Amino acid sequence: MQADLEKINSLIIEAAKKAQMETDNEPEPDFTKPIDWPITCTVGPGLEGAIASETKIGYVNGTKGWLIYRGYNIFDLCAYCSYEEVSYLLLHGKLPRASELSEYKKKLAQYRLLNKSLRLLMGFPVENMHAMAALRLGTNMMRQEFTIMDQEEGRRGPTEAIGSDEDSIPMETAPRGAESAIYEFRQPLMRRKARAKQQQETGYDLEACYRLIAGVATVTAAIARVRQGHVPIEPDPELSHAANFIYMMTGRRPSAVEERIMDIALILHADHGMNASTFASMVVASTLSDIYFSVGAGIAALNGPLHGGANEQVISLLQEIGEPSRVKTFLDNTLARKEKIVGFGHRVYKAYDPRARILGPLAEIAVRGNSAAEKLFSVARLLEQEVVARLGQTKLIFPNVDFYSGIVYRALDIQPEMFTPIFAVSRVAGWTARVHEYLQNNRIFRPRAMYTGAFNLEVLPLSQRT
Ligand code: ACO
Repeated sequence: MQADLEKINSLIIEAAKKAQMETDNEPEPDFTKPIDWPITCTVGPGLEGAIASETKIGYVNGTKGWLIYRGYNIFDLCAYCSYEEVSYLLLHGKLPRASELSEYKKKLAQYRLLNKSLRLLMGFPVENMHAMAALRLGTNMMRQEFTIMDQEEGRRGPTEAIGSDEDSIPMETAPRGAESAIYEFRQPLMRRKARAKQQQETGYDLEACYRLIAGVATVTAAIARVRQGHVPIEPDPELSHAANFIYMMTGRRPSAVEERIMDIALILHADHGMNASTFASMVVASTLSDIYFSVGAGIAALNGPLHGGANEQVISLLQEIGEPSRVKTFLDNTLARKEKIVGFGHRVYKAYDPRARILGPLAEIAVRGNSAAEKLFSVARLLEQEVVARLGQTKLIFPNVDFYSGIVYRALDIQPEMFTPIFAVSRVAGWTARVHEYLQNNRIFRPRAMYTGAFNLEVLPLSQRT
């Protein structure tokens, strides 16, 4: 067991060395400097290339294959930290001291207990629902339990509500910076907070972020249990976040190696720049909705097949290929049909995805002793070699985070429909950290669309319309 744990650390250090050899130390100057609004940038469809905000939380350099959280590279965080330390880092901007970590862990242990939210959630047919839909619902139940938003104390008074129709005020001009933001709710919010019930929160503060980091794992695990025909399990206060998550999902306390593998998987998915789900949660937060709704929006965006979910498809693909001996023929046929191979390529990474660098060797350890997973892994390894040999140099296509994560989860005996919810269990740290950071200098998101419709049409009486 100890040997395996050491092996895991050495494989991360090895992966870091490999990555280091293929890059330099220079960040992109255009994407790593303070913004002096208004700025000019080249924007593609889907806001590609648009700069929406400043952040100190995380940096992705797709050309060089870097992933950085708060100044630390992902390899070091995986090698030396736990998910608890990393989520604290994302939220607070610094790694916790021993006393801070212990305090934070105590809070997570307390906030993992979601008896009321789970009871409410169990009133719905969770076993027949899509796991992500159930997770979104569960997050709403947490909102109901922990905020005052829907109660008398939480209602906005007339002076706190938006004073004018947002489209009638002069915000269609270039952004004018946070200082001159139009919607300033901080004062009323503070007043409202002061009169909130003692133990209930407004849904904007760090405590709500902790609740979500702890609670999304509990809700996800409960959904997994119910889908398997079991009742949810209460968390064990002695276990870490990763171990608790496996325990609450499977009903058995994981080995140290399984716990470490899950911990690394959670660290690897915790934040990833301004991706669709992060942006979705920030857009919702920018209206001064609350953080439970923001995280709900993140979950909703993550559910789409263009974002989360590719790892589930990777497992189906590897099962379909079946044998290493069939990899070449599969690839010949797929490329001849000009189809994409799921688990490869990335919108941002045009180099080897640093997360896949860790997950590949990690999967090799995770599958040991599980013959079905070993088979999947052997097919995957060969597929990676073949794809990289054929498309690596020419099209900069390499395995992405989803290529090996599904194998890791399968080896931990987790059902494929839970893969995307697990992504949310981790990413909730990035969503909450970025929302919390953005709200310090909030400005409601409000891009424009180019109108290409008609003008000056005449409204005809109903009888004359064709
Ligand atoms: N397999 C084979 N060829 C590929 C692949 C792939 N997976 N991905 C891209 N290419 C090729 C394209 O065919 C295209 O070739 P061409 O220039 O000859 O037409 C070229 O690479 C560029 O492709 P684009 O689709 O423009 O690349 P883009 O950066 O927009 O796509 C994407 C990124 C959507 C992730 C794509 O690589 C893909 O569909 N991959 C498979 C699905 C997948 O694994 N998604 C998970 C992504 S990770 C995540 O979201 C957490």
